[in-house]
Amino acid sequence: MSEVQNIQWFPGHMTKTKRKIQESLKLVDGVAEIIDARIPISSRNPDLDSIIQNKPRVILMNKCDMADPSSTQKWINYYKTKNITAIPVDCKKGKGLNKFVPAVKEVLKDKIERQREKGMINPTIRVMIVGIPNVGKSSFINKIAGNIKAKTADKPGVTRGNQWFTINKGFEVLDTPGVLWPKFDDKIVGERLAFTGAVKDQIMDTELLAMRLLDFLKVEKNPLFIERFKLQNENIEEIESFELLKLIGRKRGMLISGGEIDTERASIMLLDEYRAAKLGRYTFELPK
Ligand code: G4P
Repeated sequence: MSEVQNIQWFPGHMTKTKRKIQESLKLVDGVAEIIDARIPISSRNPDLDSIIQNKPRVILMNKCDMADPSSTQKWINYYKTKNITAIPVDCKKGKGLNKFVPAVKEVLKDKIERQREKGMINPTIRVMIVGIPNVGKSSFINKIAGNIKAKTADKPGVTRGNQWFTINKGFEVLDTPGVLWPKFDDKIVGERLAFTGAVKDQIMDTELLAMRLLDFLKVEKNPLFIERFKLQNENIEEIESFELLKLIGRKRGMLISGGEIDTERASIMLLDEYRAAKLGRYTFELPK
């Protein structure tokens, strides 16, 4: 069971997390919000804006190694129009993380300037990390704080002190003070969180997820996907997703007795190969 499913998202927990974040806001200069670059809408906490209000913020578009680069750029441009700095990062490999401190300093430059005028030379900059489960918060902290082990299991109701990590002299990050909830009451959001792996799929309908994924793949027609399943001669966009799933299963010889196609197995294979980045890079949500 995944963290998202495991957690009992009850109003009391959400209120507590909200309070913890609000209290911690007093301790930091800004907020680093980690989102999944493949699903920049679905991987955001719906209430974060109202929780952090006008606190300076940087968005880290994580897992950008799995997202379509031109779509990531579209998002960055979009955020720019909203006066928000967003940087693409890959916290698995550590790519893009060298831009983090300069981006935060740029966002905070007025404040830093004011402090300098008051005679405070190089005051410590403190930033709070927030994000929904599995978005890569621990990976980010582990990479940026030089492999200091960050707590991975953050469960609601477990009290723990604020955990600070020093990135370099005069720059500290605060590990997320509570588990932020996704927009879990929205079916489409739930499905996207599931096929990108934020929610493990044991409890979801695997075939449905595979079909939802195929809804995208058949339109994108990424050569990696086409070649992998030898779909060159098919007009895949016109094929209904369940039929396409069957076709893929047949191509892989996934049959059950009676010559029927094992769509369950085909679904698992498809989702696994997508998550292992074998089918190409995709972004499932674009700015409006
Ligand atoms: P969390 O603290 O926000 O809950 O997330 P965490 O860092 O535990 O990351 C969740 C999963 O996402 C991990 O995979 C992690 O390796 C992966 N991940 C984090 N950042 C990136 C990234 O930039 N690119 C890619 N491709 N993956 C990323 P896992 O399957 O749970 O573990 P493992 O594969 O590392 O063993």
